[in-house]
Amino acid sequence: MKRVFTSLFTVTTLLCMVACGGSQAELPDYLNPKKDIEVRIDDAMSRMTLDEKIAIIHAQSKFSSAGVPRLGIPELWTTDGPHGIRPEVLWDEWVQAGWTNDFCVAFPALTALAATWNTEMSALYGKSIGEEARYREKDVLLGPGVNIYRSPLGGRNFEYMGEDPYLASRMVVPYVQQVQKIGVATCVKHYALNNAETFRHTTEPVVDDRTLYEIYLPAFKAAVIEGGSWSIMGAYNLFRGEHACHNDLLLNKILKEEWGFDGAVISDWGGTHDTREAIKNGLDLEFGTWTDGLTMGKTNSYDLYHLADAYKKLIESGEFTTKELDDKVRRVLRLMYRTSMKADKPNGALVSDEHIAAAYTIGAEGIVLLKNEKNLLPIDLSKTKTIAVIGENAIKMMTIGGGSSSLKVKKEVNPLEGLRKRVGKDVEILYARGYVGDTTSVYKRVDSGQRLADDRSEKELIAEAVEVAKRADVVLMFGGLNKAKKQDCESTDRAELGLPYGQDQLIAALTEVTDNLIYINISGNAVAMPWIDSVPAIVQGWYLGSEAGNSLAAVLVGDVNPSGKLPFTFPVQLADTGAHSMGEFSKDGEEHYGEGLLVGYRWNDAKDIDPLFAFGHGLSYTTFEYGEATVSRKKMSRDGSVTVTVPVTNTGKRQGKEIVQLYITDCQASVMRPVKELKGFAKVDLAPGQTKKVKFEITAEHLSFFDDKQHAWVAEPGEFEALIGAASDDIRTAVSFTLK
Ligand code: BGC
Repeated sequence: MKRVFTSLFTVTTLLCMVACGGSQAELPDYLNPKKDIEVRIDDAMSRMTLDEKIAIIHAQSKFSSAGVPRLGIPELWTTDGPHGIRPEVLWDEWVQAGWTNDFCVAFPALTALAATWNTEMSALYGKSIGEEARYREKDVLLGPGVNIYRSPLGGRNFEYMGEDPYLASRMVVPYVQQVQKIGVATCVKHYALNNAETFRHTTEPVVDDRTLYEIYLPAFKAAVIEGGSWSIMGAYNLFRGEHACHNDLLLNKILKEEWGFDGAVISDWGGTHDTREAIKNGLDLEFGTWTDGLTMGKTNSYDLYHLADAYKKLIESGEFTTKELDDKVRRVLRLMYRTSMKADKPNGALVSDEHIAAAYTIGAEGIVLLKNEKNLLPIDLSKTKTIAVIGENAIKMMTIGGGSSSLKVKKEVNPLEGLRKRVGKDVEILYARGYVGDTTSVYKRVDSGQRLADDRSEKELIAEAVEVAKRADVVLMFGGLNKAKKQDCESTDRAELGLPYGQDQLIAALTEVTDNLIYINISGNAVAMPWIDSVPAIVQGWYLGSEAGNSLAAVLVGDVNPSGKLPFTFPVQLADTGAHSMGEFSKDGEEHYGEGLLVGYRWNDAKDIDPLFAFGHGLSYTTFEYGEATVSRKKMSRDGSVTVTVPVTNTGKRQGKEIVQLYITDCQASVMRPVKELKGFAKVDLAPGQTKKVKFEITAEHLSFFDDKQHAWVAEPGEFEALIGAASDDIRTAVSFTLK
């Protein structure tokens, strides 16, 4: 369909050129690529009828909205997002269309990207996925997602960038910039406060202004102001009495007025509930509305959308003028001129060698070595005859499932396959399933080709795994969660922190027969590890996409030295998180965020609770030593800055990358402030014995809190401490200075 309209556009342009005497200079303004976008929009709007204006502000199919065919303005095509380009669905149904050319590369899930703490990886990600979107002729990529990881039970945390607003802000900006460079818009989602899934349509987070501005908004703000995202997606939930997709405070006041957003607000699919609110409260483009609540829809009911016939009637009856409509149309046209109407776009590329290499590199760099006693890792292949691989997650395809981020990859290398390929014939690899988790093989008509049904009892599965483990020098267990409902999956939250499917029993049985158990956790969320003391090595392996098995094998055998660090805290138990201790989580109706600012490590710091693994934690196959931090000046003026410098040395025997983290403590504040907050990080690559001086520039912005009485960011004079460390619970050096 898209191709038809693109050629229609060309035909219209040509006809017009002929009629106008063949010269581009004489094209009408709205078609003239040499004219400024705003001039083109003015001209297009002056030619559009009321019906044509109404037609472009709501969907015409599951993933597209209409253009203006009469004027040769093409349709706008959106796609999920955020880890790869979704397979095509039917025009008006959610099931796959069954095309054969709608595959993609699955890039690592965004938690893994965040775990790289490397903005270059984020740029590479954006460039690669942008090119895939472009090749598949998509105009708007529905992603990236930057909702804050508030609880380890959050079903969609795997699609987001962790618990810290600063980390998520730094990581989202290059992603957005690179996608948009190729003429594809990002649609940053889900704005805002979509932190739980089960009741996502009816929940209403109760959050104070300070927490909103300091924790839940910064990554969106960075995506909009620094990244320049051309669109943003409203969340499903309510906030202060209105759904987020038509919310005066979030959309009109904060996004459009305070942040100066000039792009289009797109509703989440089925997130629009009220025509008048949608008109007034900042929604520009309505998608996915169901006509029967949120479960069922009449077919082709697009005229019944809130921003369709109902809106037109309100204009015709005189209840509304076209003031709001014109603003929406202008924003949607701006989105089109930046994407579908952009003249000089590259073609992009699909499943290219570069994209596969990008998925591999980002994946390998995001893997986090959580524990490595006895230097069990990397596996020394010269001393290893037999490796036992245990666990369903060693063989299960993880790029399908999980909701709207489900993909149809050309190829997915699973961990067992990746290892086999890497170790070759010299090392024997034995495999046992160990447990049976999710055996779904067809997801929305995409067939994984795997048939995982297994009717053996838990006892039999464990017995087989134990036998296999006994015969091996080293045992790798790939466990964790998966993309089934109530695991890492959209629309449901997890039921518990513990590992599902009896994996704890399996691990206990394995530790009885081997001292060399390495547990690789595949998940986008923290899990409980009651057996932690008896397992010598633990790796966080995420959902790494098409190249998962190759990335994991590279780290496990030491081709790549792990350099990822956790973008969220692993608590020992749920009660150790702010959300579950002080607040409410995943509720129908009002949901009190009682922990306020104390999300993630901020809670551990405030309550002095040791995590299982801290935010920012991650080991390497080499070691790093931090020298003493120094500050360029002891006194900082309000509009000045200080530079904090710390020498970091690779004290081990191999090259490695260290993520050096800067946290700020406000020593004397008139309001409660978290003990410390991340305000800088740098990833440095060091050869053995090499030292580099890492520098952080600190300005008043890094010292500020959001003062809800003044409605402004405030940095109070007084003493501050710059803490520099290898993790939030591993501060190596500190230096103080005063803000005048
Ligand atoms: C999800 C969005 C997604 C949309 C379209 C919704 O259910 O919340 O993230 O982009 O569907 O698939």
